[in-house]
Amino acid sequence: MSRCLGLLTGGGDAPGLNAVIRAFVKRGVGQLGWTVIGIEDSFNGLLDSPHRTLPLELRSCQGLLPRGGTILGTTNRGDPFDFPGPDGTRSDRSAELAAAIHDAGMEGLVVLGGDGTQAIAHRMMTEHGIPVIGVPKTIDNDLSATDLTFGFLSAVGVATEALDRLHTTAESHERVMLLEVMGRDAGHIALWAGLAGGADVILIPEIPYDAEMVAAKIRRRQEIGRLFSIVIVAEGALPARPDGTLPSAAERKRALAEGGGASVIAMREIQPHVDAEMRNCVLGHLQRGGSPVPIDRVLATRFGVGAADLVEADRWGEMVRLKNGVVGGVPLVDAISDYRFVDLEGEFVRTARSVGIEFGAQPI
Ligand code: F6P
Repeated sequence: MSRCLGLLTGGGDAPGLNAVIRAFVKRGVGQLGWTVIGIEDSFNGLLDSPHRTLPLELRSCQGLLPRGGTILGTTNRGDPFDFPGPDGTRSDRSAELAAAIHDAGMEGLVVLGGDGTQAIAHRMMTEHGIPVIGVPKTIDNDLSATDLTFGFLSAVGVATEALDRLHTTAESHERVMLLEVMGRDAGHIALWAGLAGGADVILIPEIPYDAEMVAAKIRRRQEIGRLFSIVIVAEGALPARPDGTLPSAAERKRALAEGGGASVIAMREIQPHVDAEMRNCVLGHLQRGGSPVPIDRVLATRFGVGAADLVEADRWGEMVRLKNGVVGGVPLVDAISDYRFVDLEGEFVRTARSVGIEFGAQPI
């Protein structure tokens, strides 16, 4: 009997999702004769009545490789274990979801998502016996189980181009320009784009910064005639606390919201110490939109085929990943257990410091 699988995209979108869908369908439907049913808007498509699903066939894949977003739609607001209802109510609809998967004749689910979506998939497997295969996705590149997630380098490309553009206007006006980039609780996008775009200062959540040290870097540049400076700020970056403690995730979220965002806070902290006009620019969702760069298209295609390989081998409960240049599988439980922060002692931070980039803190 032919295999029938459900496939969904969950969480924030990332360039390359459609390329994964295309590769999975080309291999699974085109070569192995499977039926693949796309579920719309993450798990929600199976919780709505009537269900919102569509058959994924070879012709659904036409033109998908360079297309940004996801043809299935996505959401980061639909956890079936804590499902938002009317008037702020929440309910556990996971059993309903499991029944819908069975009723649709799906043998299992292929779940394209970040850590939140993979954690839900893992719970559907352990608590409801739904076979799942994960495909890691996030522009944040914060999943420790894989060396790289598709979408990350596309986002870095957008942020790098933004830095290039900010350079010319910053130089013309002799200003300090701050660019705020995404990345959630990790600073990978800021670090990579900062290196690629020649930032003078990189502020990341992993390194609480001292505004006076940042200002000193800007002043040193002014003293040698470089009258502008470029600061890239990860959306989770905050100044160091006087007592040296690190904020919890909730404290960080609150401080950022109360302060008006990471780049606004940084500007407020640094401005009193420098004699230059400052401006901030929040890059936002431009980083998630548009066509994937070639390396993301290639990685997404490898992950799509890798996911089909895991299904073919009945390696349910695993997530595709790239490790040491090779695509393979890793148990989902390991994949969701570790958040990947920037390695403070790693080669990337050391390289950045070695070309004079300031992080606003002494090396550890
Ligand atoms: O996880 C991807 C991401 O783009 C983060 O970098 C960012 O913090 C978040 O999603 C933004 O989410 P939303 O699209 O809900 O504003």
